[in-house]
Amino acid sequence: MDIKNTENIADQNKKPVYSGNSIMVRPNGPLICKGDSDITLQDEDARIIAKDKEFALCRCGLSKNKPFCDGSHKTMKEDMPQLFNDAREEDISGYDGDLVITVKANAMYSLHGPVTIFSRDGLSKTTRTKAALCRCGHSENKPFCDARHKQSGFTA
Ligand code: FES
Repeated sequence: MDIKNTENIADQNKKPVYSGNSIMVRPNGPLICKGDSDITLQDEDARIIAKDKEFALCRCGLSKNKPFCDGSHKTMKEDMPQLFNDAREEDISGYDGDLVITVKANAMYSLHGPVTIFSRDGLSKTTRTKAALCRCGHSENKPFCDARHKQSGFTA
């Protein structure tokens, strides 16, 4: 096997990486948030929960350390898919700026700022300046919120 082929195989096994702000949707796992500069994670009263270049947010609703992932998704019985479609994709090429994620009480993550959202396998990808992502684990349109947090009685 020549060196070129070896490199191609390595590339196929690599998960995608995007510059700027990105959120990787892990299959049956958390939302991995990464930024070239700090991402602000705040509550709905704008109190800072974290400001960091990387953190993992719970999307199964089971973490005992919400909004962060604590590995509780491993106890889930249903699958949480990584693949998605997004009819509301936006062109973010003209946008430059930080990402702010607001943790809404008993509801979703509300995103403001340019961000690339993608599945770990790279087959799904969208770009947004605003989005609502599910953190209760009940949406049927994951990773997006579809308001099922209301009927499921999610509290956090
Ligand atoms: S937070 Fe899960 S459906 Fe809204």
